[in-house]
Amino acid sequence: MVILKTNSMIKKIRLSCRLASQTLDYASQVIQVGQTTKELDELIYEFICSHDAIPASLGYNGFPGSSCISINEVVVHGIPGPRVINAGDVVKVDVTTNLNGYFGDTARTFLMEPVSDQARKLTEITKKSMDLAIQTVRPGSRVGDIGATIQGCVEKEGFSVVRDFVGHGVGLRMHEHPAIPHYGKAGEGMIFKTGMIFTIEPMINAGAFGVKILGDKWTAVTIDGQLSAQFEHAILVTEDGHEILTIS
Ligand code: MF3
Ligand code: CO
Ligand code: CO
Repeated sequence: MVILKTNSMIKKIRLSCRLASQTLDYASQVIQVGQTTKELDELIYEFICSHDAIPASLGYNGFPGSSCISINEVVVHGIPGPRVINAGDVVKVDVTTNLNGYFGDTARTFLMEPVSDQARKLTEITKKSMDLAIQTVRPGSRVGDIGATIQGCVEKEGFSVVRDFVGHGVGLRMHEHPAIPHYGKAGEGMIFKTGMIFTIEPMINAGAFGVKILGDKWTAVTIDGQLSAQFEHAILVTEDGHEILTIS
């Protein structure tokens, strides 16, 4: 069942989303070459806790980090640990906040300069595909409009859309209905209504879309070992269109 959020819920979810976004602003300032992903995650933990919120990832189905930090061929759900962030890396940081029981979820890709032309183009196109997909969202638009827009944007550049992970409703829990695939056909699927809140979080691979999960049961990597990029926003469907709740 899809939850239509009331105005009082929206106010509280907006605050959580804003904190998630501010956490990524903070991450963008403190991330550095030579740091381990665990060190970055500890800074993120302190930031979220110092704003009277809880990192919702921590302990979620046993996940051991306050954020997911996924480097290069790691697509999503990278576990913070001893891996060192190097120059040239494509680093995805994904933060989910629980503020007073309301959830915000957002992710960005950080480029550790200098990076390859391919890394830069992949990251720019991934961001562009999310932004174009967000523009389709309004009452009466459909879930398939999002997927078709993202696919159209990235496949013409020779990149591919990951199928195994999707966007999702968010707000009262981290993951709610509906599922939001980042591939699909325009005009198909669920029709959006005012008060829905969901994420759009395309994972775009430089090579093939196939992913596999490592032995730690979390880390998702590209099967071909090529780069992957991701951005994520939480979107509210409003009477006249949409509002990006995780705006910086
Ligand atoms: N933030 C992720 C998402 O976008 C979920 C992370 S769950 C975790 O859906 F346990 F891996 F942290
Ligand atoms: Co999400
Ligand atoms: Co997320």
